[in-house]
Amino acid sequence: MKLNQVRQSFLNYFKNKNHKILPSSGLVPKGDDSLLFTNAGMVQFKDTFLGLDNRDYSATTSQKCLRVGGKHNDLENVGFTTRHQTFFEMLGNFSFGEYFKEKAIEYAWEFLTEELKLPEDRLWVTVHKDDKESEEIWLKKIGVSSTRLAKLGDDDNFWSMGDTGPCGPCSEIFFDNGKNFDGKAPGEGDTGERYIEIWNLVFMEFNRDSNGKLSSLPVKCVDTGMGLERMCSVMQEVGSNFDIDIFKSLKNLMSKHFTEPNDQSLNVLADHLRAIFFLMAENIMPSNEGRGYVLRRLIRRAVRHGYKMGSRDPFLSQFLTHLENDFKEDFGVDFLKFEKIQKDLLTEEQLFFKTLKTGIEIFEASINDTDGKQLDGAIAFKLHDTYGFPVDLTMAMAKERGLKVDQKGFDNLMKKQREGSKSSSMFKVLDITIDPKINSEFVGYQEQTAKGSCVALFDEEGNSITSLSGEGFAIFSKTPFYAESGGQVADIGIFKSTNLNGEILNCKKVGDFHLHEVSIVEGSLELNADVELIIDAERREKIVSNHSATHLLHSALRKVLGESVEQRGSLVNEEKLRFDFSHSNKVTDDQIMEIEDIVNLKIEEAIDTKTEVLPYEDALKTGALAFFGDKYGEKVRVVYINGDFSVEFCGGTHVKNTSEIGGFAVTNETSVSSGVRRIEAISGDKYYKESQNALKTLELLSVKLNVPQEKIADRVDELLESLKNSKKNNPVVQAKELRDEQCSFSGSSGVIKIFENASLEILRKESDKLKSDKKIVFAICLSATEDKLIYIVSSNNSDEAPASEIIKAVNHAFDGSGGGRADFAQGGSSQKESVDEMVTKLKGLFKG
Ligand code: SER
Repeated sequence: MKLNQVRQSFLNYFKNKNHKILPSSGLVPKGDDSLLFTNAGMVQFKDTFLGLDNRDYSATTSQKCLRVGGKHNDLENVGFTTRHQTFFEMLGNFSFGEYFKEKAIEYAWEFLTEELKLPEDRLWVTVHKDDKESEEIWLKKIGVSSTRLAKLGDDDNFWSMGDTGPCGPCSEIFFDNGKNFDGKAPGEGDTGERYIEIWNLVFMEFNRDSNGKLSSLPVKCVDTGMGLERMCSVMQEVGSNFDIDIFKSLKNLMSKHFTEPNDQSLNVLADHLRAIFFLMAENIMPSNEGRGYVLRRLIRRAVRHGYKMGSRDPFLSQFLTHLENDFKEDFGVDFLKFEKIQKDLLTEEQLFFKTLKTGIEIFEASINDTDGKQLDGAIAFKLHDTYGFPVDLTMAMAKERGLKVDQKGFDNLMKKQREGSKSSSMFKVLDITIDPKINSEFVGYQEQTAKGSCVALFDEEGNSITSLSGEGFAIFSKTPFYAESGGQVADIGIFKSTNLNGEILNCKKVGDFHLHEVSIVEGSLELNADVELIIDAERREKIVSNHSATHLLHSALRKVLGESVEQRGSLVNEEKLRFDFSHSNKVTDDQIMEIEDIVNLKIEEAIDTKTEVLPYEDALKTGALAFFGDKYGEKVRVVYINGDFSVEFCGGTHVKNTSEIGGFAVTNETSVSSGVRRIEAISGDKYYKESQNALKTLELLSVKLNVPQEKIADRVDELLESLKNSKKNNPVVQAKELRDEQCSFSGSSGVIKIFENASLEILRKESDKLKSDKKIVFAICLSATEDKLIYIVSSNNSDEAPASEIIKAVNHAFDGSGGGRADFAQGGSSQKESVDEMVTKLKGLFKG
């Protein structure tokens, strides 16, 4: 059976058992900050398990999963075992109260033995040692022999999604690959490659909070998970996930491409390539933090393995082409962006190949500082961490020089880093358990005030209470307070009743509930008390204006820059709007003007906006722009402005008519990371006030300079010119230019300029001038005075030639000190050198 046949047969089997086939959700969990990536089929059903989002059916899915980081992390196993992958598909069936242990076990057994026709005597099962019920079902109902059933503890047979969230005891099914493979039977030791776990049946009963406390879920649920690729290796009798149909031809192709192929590296590449692609298909770009960092590490690991196999040029993006058709069939929609992904991947690969080269240079330079025996662990770590340099490569190179690497020092630093990244991979989650049966309604699309009763009350720690007099959290039966989501900040405001006054400082979404952060000013808030809730309407009005302006901006960007513009993030508050989007180049001043004109035209046209709530599938058909970072339920809200000019999935609040926005101006355009730009803009009242201020300033300047407004710029130029001349004629600030030399760093061209008596300000200006020549990537400007040397390094390309790195070498050359950012650094030394000496030293360091 091919992979897609196994998938189909699973889904069909459960469809025939009255399960609804649902699509896989994304790798980035929507609206759930407790996980970095979807690591199991149950993630999209978490709220349903918790009772916060009810479903009256059982479901089955084939879920895209990624297990890197967090509780379930298989990254280090990939390439070392036949059965671990980072990216894989997980088949599962899910019951939300309809059935529990007995049916789940019966279905699993029937599917394996009757649909897939696996021989019963090659199947082994495990149960939790305290789960007598499952044990009975396996032995009595199913008739599994007690010699093939093991009872194990929490480590093996209790499953949790993460440190918090739904969990419960589980029962696992293993397949025996036969005597030719090593491994002990389940319960007897390491199962090795012989006994392969193929299916995990989890009986979800509990929710774990951040203190580790378990509470019962509203209903008992079932969550099962079967690794699709692993199951295929069983069905195809190949003994390894990496030898199944989908990997075979790719590995073949790759083994021909590399000069020194090895199976382990080929497996890592086959795995990582898929993980990389599916992350990028969800708009994640390589970066130095969060999900982007995981992606970057995967790419670097993959490139390193290619490097190990002899490649010195990018290869990953090229292999993607080979996968396109296979993937298209299986995953459809993600492939719309195929070419763009390939391009972005190529850029990252090229960047890393460059860094690899720099790493080698750093290695060479560090060799001189060793005691002749051992290379410092800190250098190996720096090469690994900053330059993504594989430690085994560092070791091999050190060996050629008769050196060892201080492995212990390296391991210690790695350990420290791992501990750091583990904690930074988890986001903070508000730890509050809400009774799913309470009723609460958001009326804030229409109303600014509402009368509601307090239906849930918590202290600052999240404990349920009945009376609050300080600060805490509350849910009300009705609320006009918008909860922070989709980039729009929460409403703030007040609430009151007789003898009670309080403030609402923030409002967060927990499932569908709006959890208000409250502060009591007078009296106390009692559970079940009726209060009047009033939002800060003036502030909301500004937010609304900025939110609708964001939609118009999004559409205008796509019109001016092209359809490849995709939202990467946004922030809408009362001050401004911020919009991040995919685009490789700087948005030019002309383009910004064009964008502003389009948005302002739509504002002038006074267009009514429209919203409608549609089933997800229908909403997709409207062509609405959906943002992956948001959670979309079964029903979604679609916001239209001017027919199809702007159609977006959005739960935010908007103007009724675009004329309410008043006006729009872009205030800033910057780069966020490679391929992502950021625009900040203002609208409404703020736009009006800022325009007024600008006009007043112009008036003032016109009076002061004694010229009409349109001549102000010319007049300022004249004044600047005469200032420059007067400085030139002033002998006190005479700086002398002594030497000008070409140089290079890691293949990037730079220039060294040496002055006498120049101030830092002059050096800075000189370097700006030098850098305006596009061929120059970085500039090192130095100035020698009577008693000291000062220098600055500035860089046009922080990735290729980071100023912060270059200055280290300059410090080293002159025994000086200093540092700075990747684009600008400065330093100094008390060492005096002749110009010739300075040039010799610097040219030696930066020769290429
Ligand atoms: N959530 C369980 C697992 O991932 C079963 O689906 O193993």
